[in-house]
Amino acid sequence: GRLVVLVSGSGTNLQALLDAAVNPSFGARIVAVGADREGIEGLARAERASIPTFVERVKDHPSRQEWDETIARRIAVHEPDLVVCAGFMKILGAPTLDAFPVLNTHPALLPSFPGAHGVRDALAGGVKVTGCTVMLADAGVDTGPIVAQEAVRVFDGDDEERLHERIKTVERGLLVDTVGRMVREGWTVTGRTVRIGN
Ligand code: GRF
Repeated sequence: GRLVVLVSGSGTNLQALLDAAVNPSFGARIVAVGADREGIEGLARAERASIPTFVERVKDHPSRQEWDETIARRIAVHEPDLVVCAGFMKILGAPTLDAFPVLNTHPALLPSFPGAHGVRDALAGGVKVTGCTVMLADAGVDTGPIVAQEAVRVFDGDDEERLHERIKTVERGLLVDTVGRMVREGWTVTGRTVRIGN
């Protein structure tokens, strides 16, 4: 399977996918990496792996709609079977969502704590267990059907960074495992239930 991965930051989830895709039995390869900003480690990771990259900044476009249409085109030229948002901090619009299946990963147990500060919100909420979620993206913010989740304990004295790192060690494995199974076995969506395999 052909993957296009979208990033906005350090790209450690991308790195986990890059490392997994080295093994032919993974069943997928990353054909391009896209970003909404320049100069991030995620792009450097792609360049080190000799994978084509592209950057589309919203502010370079006359409207959000035009950015949506452009990023959909930048993705389409790579003919992906699956687009993976791995720490991508923009909501993709209809031009992309209507053209490709899009998978997203979130560092909380959705539907709890959606949005850009899921780790901070879980800490503020005083929960003892949080986790990470891999879901199919829809037009909303972290509202798509859930594909996989894993729980992560919160410890006394955790701050946002320490908790997010603990979540990410689990999240990277969950993302790699889920992407691999989806590209190898396919999936079906019935309402809000995603089933991998036949
Ligand atoms: C991940 O935890 C992702 O769920 C969240 O931001 C983090 C990105 O980390 N949206 P990285 O860029 O993959 O290291």
